[in-house]
Amino acid sequence: MNCPVDWPEPIVRVQSLSESEVPVIPDRYIKPPLERPTAAKQSTDASDVNIPIIDLQGWDGDDDLRATILGQISEACRKWGFFQILNHGVNPQLLDRAREVWREFFHLPMEMKHVYANSPKTYEGYGSRLGVEKGAILDWSDYYFLHYLPLSLKDCNKWPALPADCREVLDEYGRELVKLCGRLMKLLSINLGLEEDVLQNAFGGQNIGACLRVNFYPKCPQPDLTLGLSSHSDPGGMTLLLPDHQVPGLQVRRQDEWITVKPVPHAFIVNIGDQIQVISNAIYKSVEHRVIVNAAKERVSLAFFYNPKSDIPIGPIKELLAPDKPALYAPMTFDEYRLFIRMRGPRGKSQVDSLKSRSMT
Ligand code: OGA
Ligand code: NI
Repeated sequence: MNCPVDWPEPIVRVQSLSESEVPVIPDRYIKPPLERPTAAKQSTDASDVNIPIIDLQGWDGDDDLRATILGQISEACRKWGFFQILNHGVNPQLLDRAREVWREFFHLPMEMKHVYANSPKTYEGYGSRLGVEKGAILDWSDYYFLHYLPLSLKDCNKWPALPADCREVLDEYGRELVKLCGRLMKLLSINLGLEEDVLQNAFGGQNIGACLRVNFYPKCPQPDLTLGLSSHSDPGGMTLLLPDHQVPGLQVRRQDEWITVKPVPHAFIVNIGDQIQVISNAIYKSVEHRVIVNAAKERVSLAFFYNPKSDIPIGPIKELLAPDKPALYAPMTFDEYRLFIRMRGPRGKSQVDSLKSRSMT
C-alpha cells in the first residue's frame, strides 16, 4: 500500500465556497441521510450533559488531592474516552494567542495560503480533504497540518511565515503541550496499575511523535446537510484539543446519542486515541467524535496529537494480559496504521475495530 503523490481531483477550498455566499452547498458535501447531524438524537445547547471536567490544580502535591484527581481521570478514560482539563499549567495567554494566529492565518488572502498547499504524501501544510478516494463525499473544513516531533520531521519552513509571530508562538505551544502530555501519560499509566513510566516506554520513550492539525470550519449555508469533520476516532495516542471558546461544534458519541461538548474557557479537551486503546487492551477506549458546522459563525480548533514512535510495533502491554484477558489486538506500527487511515479518510471506528478482527482470526 502506497499513498499517491497527489489528490485525485482538483482541490476546492471550503473557505472559498463559503465566501462565495452560494445559498446551497455542492452535492459533494451533502452527507447520506443517516450521517447528517439531524439523523440521530443530539444534546442541545441548553442540555446539561457534558463530558467530565477535571480540575488539575494540585495534581502533583497533596496525596489526597492527587488521589481524587487520579480517580476522576480514571473514570473519564474508561467511561468517556473524553474529558476537559482545567488548571493544566499552560499559560492561558499562550492558548489565546495560538488560536488567534491561526484565525489570522486563515484570513490571509488565498494566494498567500496556497504557497503551503499540501499533498497526500505527507499531509503537511494547508489542506482541504482527508483521504484520497476519488469522488468521496467531503467534509466542510480546511486545515493545516505540521510536525513537532520527531525532530527529524520538524521543519519550521513548512509552518506559516505570517502572522509575524506565528512560528514563535507555535514553537512554544508545541513545547508546552509535549510537556503536558508527558505528565498526563504518567497519570494514565498509574491508573492502569502500572509504574508511571510504563505507558511512555510503550510509546518508545522520548522518541515519540507530536503533530498539530488546525481545523478551520467556515460558515455553512446548509449546516444540517453536512459535517465539518465526519465521525472518527483519533488514530494516534492521545489528543489535546483547544476548541473555539465561543463556538461549540464538537460532538462525542455516547451510545446512540451525540453529546455536544460545551467548551470551558482555557481548558483542553483530552481524548484517548486508537493507539492507547490498543496498548491498554481496550481498558481505555478511543471514542468516536465528529464536528457540526453552523450558518452564523466560523470555528477554529487546534488538535495536538501525541503519538507513539512510528516504527515500533504497538500492541497490548504484557502486564495487562492474563489467561482471562487475552490480547485483543495484533501489534502493528503506527506508520502502517496511519497509512491505512490516510488512504481512506475518517470512518468511525472501523479502523481500530478491524485490527481486532485480525488478531481474533
Ligand atoms: C480532530 C478533531 C475536533 C474539533 O481534529 O481530530 O476531532 O473540534 N477535531 O475540531
Ligand atoms: Ni478527532
